[in-house]
Amino acid sequence: MPSNSVSSNQSFTIQTRLVIPPDTNHINTIFGGQVLSFIDEIAAITAMRHSNSVVVTASIDSVNFVGSAKVGDILILQAFVASTGRTSMEVYVEVFSENLLKKEKKLTTTSFLTMVAVNEDGKPCVVPGVIPETEQQKLLYETAAVRREQRKMQRENGGMR
Ligand SMILES: CC(C)(COP(=O)(O)OP(=O)(O)OC[C@H]1O[C@@H](n2cnc3c(N)ncnc32)[C@H](O)[C@@H]1OP(=O)(O)O)[C@@H](O)C(=O)NCCC(=O)NCCS
Repeated sequence: MPSNSVSSNQSFTIQTRLVIPPDTNHINTIFGGQVLSFIDEIAAITAMRHSNSVVVTASIDSVNFVGSAKVGDILILQAFVASTGRTSMEVYVEVFSENLLKKEKKLTTTSFLTMVAVNEDGKPCVVPGVIPETEQQKLLYETAAVRREQRKMQRENGGMR
């Protein structure tokens, strides 16, 4: 762990949004693409908080839609930097939907993204390491090397980088 490491609690970010009709499909549930856009935004904010630099999205590594949200629901997005490489940050995002009238809250989406810190020339720059604090953060930190290797293999097998 680099000496200038930053706690995952420091990058932890929450955003709350109301699901409104323009964000939804013909069955009144939110578009997946809209959720992806929210996820990308919170991941960028989270990575900027961790690195104190401008960041770009290198990849949206996985997205699991495990539930839906309806018009009138509240979307709660939570994110933190789970692990880092030299210049990249793995951000983990969870999205919950909440029905305030029924007092129901459920997990709808989980996602991992890779954000890269860049300098004014758009070149990758070194980021601080991560100090995991909660049980969830520790688990994701400890399993990060496996996910990183899987992503590398996917990129190589896919003929991309
Ligand atoms: C991401 C980007 C800065 C990488 O630049 P690069 O010159 O190829 O840099 P490198 O090969 O040195 O890689 C830098 C880091 O990014 C990671 N990386 C690069 N491409 C990646 C990809 N497709 N997926 C995941 N990680 C990636 C590398 O593993 C490396 O991580 P590390 O330093 O922690 O080991 C560059 O490809 C870029 O600017 N892409 C466009 C980003 C953008 O515009 N996003 C918005 C969505 S359209």
